[in-house]
Amino acid sequence: MSANKESWGSRMGLILAMAGNAVGLGNFLRFPVQAVQNGGGAFIIPYLVCFLVMGIPLLWIEWSMGRFGGKSGHHSTPFIVDTMGKSRLWKYIGVFGIWTNIAVASYYCYLESWTMSYVFHSVIGTFSGLDQEGVSNFFNEYVSLGISTLGIPYEPIFFFVLCLLLNTWILSQGLASGVERVAKIGMPLLILFGAFLAYKGFTITAGENGAINDSSVGLNFLWTPNFDQLWSPSVWLAAAGQIFFTLSVGMGTVQCYASYVRSKDDIALNAMSAGWMNEFVEVVLGGAILIPISIGYLGIDRVTELVQHGGLGLAFRTMPYLFYQWGDVLGAVAGVMWFGLLFFAGITSSLAMGTPWIGFLQDEFNWKRKPAAWSFGIFVLVLGMPTVLFFEYGVFDEYDYWAGTVSLVVFALFESILFAWIFGMNKGWREIISGSDIKVPGIYRFIIKFVTPLLLLWVFLGSLFTPKGGDWAAAFSGSWELDDSSIIKKIMNSGLKEQLAAATDAAQIE
Ligand code: PHE
Ligand code: NA
Repeated sequence: MSANKESWGSRMGLILAMAGNAVGLGNFLRFPVQAVQNGGGAFIIPYLVCFLVMGIPLLWIEWSMGRFGGKSGHHSTPFIVDTMGKSRLWKYIGVFGIWTNIAVASYYCYLESWTMSYVFHSVIGTFSGLDQEGVSNFFNEYVSLGISTLGIPYEPIFFFVLCLLLNTWILSQGLASGVERVAKIGMPLLILFGAFLAYKGFTITAGENGAINDSSVGLNFLWTPNFDQLWSPSVWLAAAGQIFFTLSVGMGTVQCYASYVRSKDDIALNAMSAGWMNEFVEVVLGGAILIPISIGYLGIDRVTELVQHGGLGLAFRTMPYLFYQWGDVLGAVAGVMWFGLLFFAGITSSLAMGTPWIGFLQDEFNWKRKPAAWSFGIFVLVLGMPTVLFFEYGVFDEYDYWAGTVSLVVFALFESILFAWIFGMNKGWREIISGSDIKVPGIYRFIIKFVTPLLLLWVFLGSLFTPKGGDWAAAFSGSWELDDSSIIKKIMNSGLKEQLAAATDAAQIE
């Protein structure tokens, strides 16, 4: 029990903070890249289905878990789940919901610090007049920590520390006057910048300013359903993974934010407002910038090739160059808007990652908010250093895989079982609909009890035992050889030395 009596300032503030939590770098960088890597139109159907049968149920589960735990003064998952299940085991599973956040924050905040730095460089005109190779070289030098503008040595580290200081400072201001206030400023600006860039993305015309395709080429690539790969489990796994990451479910942040909702207030409608806002920003804005613009100038084949090495390059080494095709002024403005919107998207999410740890220390160890916030900043700095120092060796991607992908699925699987089967569907349903301002469709009672946990189990087992080349038909009819992308193979191969060697080889091939 804690003396922590904080709560959200207003309903609008809560929705914006939750939407800010969900809307993040994932919407603008991860979603388009996942879509391209999984064949564009082949991705979009599984993606939308996963939203309806896993995303929405998990949002309701997590919001109601949070409000339920908040009634007994708990604001972090170890103790929230402890109030729901009798076994001690749950408490330890709940630790995931703090740990994952800190681990994800460790690479996420580094990426967030790039966006800060790139806003700065767009303002001072670093990319103006550079050709594609020049912008690309700047990025290479940046990640190898070679950039030092204005005499700041190790500039990327400087921005990383600055970014963490900013996060720490906002978190130490508290919920309503820190996190909520930032969301109220950041979210509208993000949507404004996003709308401008999406407008530019929608109006790319072949032959103008060096574009080779109309916007429609990229948009059709993304939106024309392609049923060929509809039954490919690897596409489904990617779609499920994106839904988790983008909605911030399976992390512990949604429960934490919801634990500050007053016990009589609505959660069913609030959860939908924030969740659908995330989807709007993801598929409408996120889908209208990176893909149509890069395909407009480079074509589908080239873009597909570029994202095979990960999606960050497209955003940081290609976009700043392409913007300048629109002229010097618009080029700089678009750069500020693009990296500015990424920054707002990033910070409203990284604040969400800090909140569970702070709530945990406050509730259970009576820490004050300020030292708790500082301990988060320092923790992330230390844990994030490997991604900064060894970025080129693939450490960043390792973090994203283990903390940002696998843990989310594992935690979501456990919590959906806890909610529907241990806590019980009757009580669970009552929690969801109590105080509700909408009528929750009855079908979701069935979905939450059966469909969501089974699908999660499938996703988990599927990634545990992915067969070679993702070819399940062959695997079931013959001998089952594990793909290198399966979790089991990854654990077996997880000698860091071999991985670094492999990553170095890959870097040299590039
Ligand atoms: N949902 C965020 C995004 O799309 C990421 C995030 C994950 C935020 C976990 C908070 C917690 O970028
Ligand atoms: Na998101």
